[in-house]
Amino acid sequence: MGDVGDLLVRLYDLPQGPVRDGLAAAGIEIRRALPPERLIVLDWVTRHFGSLWAAEVEMGFGQLPVTVWLAVRGNALLGFACHDATAKGFFGPTGVDAAARGQGVGEALLFATLNGMRAAGYAYAVIGDPGPVEFYCKRLDASVIPKSKPGLYRGMLRPQLEDRQVD
Ligand SMILES: CC(C)(COP(=O)(O)OP(=O)(O)OC[C@H]1O[C@@H](n2cnc3c(N)ncnc32)[C@H](O)[C@@H]1OP(=O)(O)O)[C@@H](O)C(=O)NCCC(=O)NCCS
Repeated sequence: MGDVGDLLVRLYDLPQGPVRDGLAAAGIEIRRALPPERLIVLDWVTRHFGSLWAAEVEMGFGQLPVTVWLAVRGNALLGFACHDATAKGFFGPTGVDAAARGQGVGEALLFATLNGMRAAGYAYAVIGDPGPVEFYCKRLDASVIPKSKPGLYRGMLRPQLEDRQVD
C-alpha cells in the first residue's frame, strides 16, 4: 500500500490524455476486454500482481459491459486497468508488464478507463490505495481524500503464501 489515502478525480474536468502515437506505431492497442478473455487475463494478473488484484479484475469481468481495459500487442497481454472492481466508482487496480513500462501504456490505460467511467455516468472517480501517486498526479488534477487511509481496505484478509502482490 502507498502512504497516502485515496485520490479523487473530477471526471467532468478530465484533461485530454497525452497523444501517444508511439503506442499504435509499436502495434500496441488499448481496448475494453471481452468476456472470453476472462481466464487468460486473470491468470496473467495473478502471475504478475497476485491473487488480490486478480479477484478485483474478476469483478470487472462480471459486469456488462466489462469494466476492464487491456493493452495488447498481437496475442500478448501487456497491461490492464479496471473500474468498479473494488467498489462502485473506484478506478483500479492497474498494472503493466515490467518489460513494457515507461512507454505510455499505463497512462493510456488510465485515460481509457477514466473516459469509460465518464461515459458510464460517473462525475468522479476514486483511485483507491493509489500506490505511485506521482504517476496519477502527473496528468490528473487529483486530490487526496482526507481520512481515507486505510479506508475501504481496513482489516482486509491478505494471502499468507504470496511473497508480494506487485512485481
Ligand atoms: C504504475 C504503472 C501502471 C505505470 O505504467 P507505465 O506504462 O510504466 O506508465 P507510463 O509509461 O504511461 O508513464 C506515464 C508517466 O508517468 C511516469 N511514471 C510511471 N510510473 C511512475 C511511478 N511509479 N512513479 C512516478 N512516475 C511514474 C512516467 O515517467 C511517465 O512520465 P513522462 O510521460 O513524463 O515520461 C506501472 O509502473 C506498474 O504496473 N506498476 C506496478 C503496479 C502499480 O503500482 N499499479 C498502480 C497501483 S493500482
